[in-house]
Amino acid sequence: MSTPDPWNRPRAAVLCGIGSCLPPRPVPNDVLAARLDSSDEWIRSRTGIGQRYFATAGTTTSDLAVGAGAQAIKSADSSEVDTVVVATTTPDRPCPATAPVVATKLGLTGAAAFDVAAVCTGFVYALAVATGLIASGSAKRVLVIGAETYSSILNPEDRTTSVIFGDGAGAVVLRAGEPDEPGALGPFDLGSDGECADLITVRGGGAEERLSGVDPAPGDRYFTMAGKEVFRHAVHRMSASATAVLARAGWQPGDVDHLVGHQANIRILNRLADDLRIPRERNVTNIEQVGNTSAASIPLALDHAHAEGRLNAGERVLLTAFGGGFTWGSTVLTWPQISRP
Ligand code: UT7
Repeated sequence: MSTPDPWNRPRAAVLCGIGSCLPPRPVPNDVLAARLDSSDEWIRSRTGIGQRYFATAGTTTSDLAVGAGAQAIKSADSSEVDTVVVATTTPDRPCPATAPVVATKLGLTGAAAFDVAAVCTGFVYALAVATGLIASGSAKRVLVIGAETYSSILNPEDRTTSVIFGDGAGAVVLRAGEPDEPGALGPFDLGSDGECADLITVRGGGAEERLSGVDPAPGDRYFTMAGKEVFRHAVHRMSASATAVLARAGWQPGDVDHLVGHQANIRILNRLADDLRIPRERNVTNIEQVGNTSAASIPLALDHAHAEGRLNAGERVLLTAFGGGFTWGSTVLTWPQISRP
């Protein structure tokens, strides 16, 4: 009788390592407020942000991704990684993808490697893709990274975006395992609405601009966001997506020990908790220290909370994100035992 092939049946993706990386330059509110007709008081009260980190000249998204990825691999129970997925809105170049460069810099040459573009929802989408690769037997161990250098696309004259976004990276390692193990991801809820593509966008730099026959306007290289409208959608979409995923998981809102929402704005996170009937103190947030880091925001928040001892093995965690596209997505996991740095 032949031995059953363990890769022949669907398996769960189990989180087994985590890490993060911030550039060395913290930028407090006062530094930006001085040149943008803003104030520390406005930024803190409207967003909850106290500072963010901006990359120094010569630092790229792949550098931050490598920093986070190396930590995540170190904290995992094995360094064998066969697939690298990088979620980013700020790839090093339009072509090729950033992930192969990251894989090679990490000594993982030969690993499957590709990017996922879903703006601030990118990390949750990347988790879902990695979970699918593991479930199908196509991958055994996946490094999933959310990494951004938003400072490269922010308009330094635009106070509505410059004070909100920051740079950074967070990463997790997923391995094949059993659905009832701590750390097993899923179910997922994912969605999008391209009707709203103009509300969060970088208009230039793509094929649309290059084939338009019109010279790009100087502002087209910068990120723009219709803040007020996005705010409304963010609360509604994350709330609906999180509710859907809780129902699929068979969890009640009261079962959630930690709500890890995309770190867009502390007011959004508080409204989200209220909508979901999850006490606000269960919100995991590091927005005060790092701002909105888009695709890096959820893994950065997870890693910081884990390092501070806030996430403990056996506790139930709900992840939910919203971003440009529009896109949204949610998933759940029971926090596994992972060594702390
Ligand atoms: O990551 C992807 C998802 N992103 C989000 O979900 C972000 C969603 N949006 C937001 O977080 C908020 O809408 C913002 C933080 C972007 C803006 O906060 P707001 O409370 O919605 O402010 P607002 O846009 O309604 O502006 C209120 C006032 C305006 O002045 P007037 O027209 O009332 O005189 C703005 O010009 O605040 C002014 N303002 C500022 N003032 C000082 C806007 N930005 C600033 C600033 N400093 N940085």
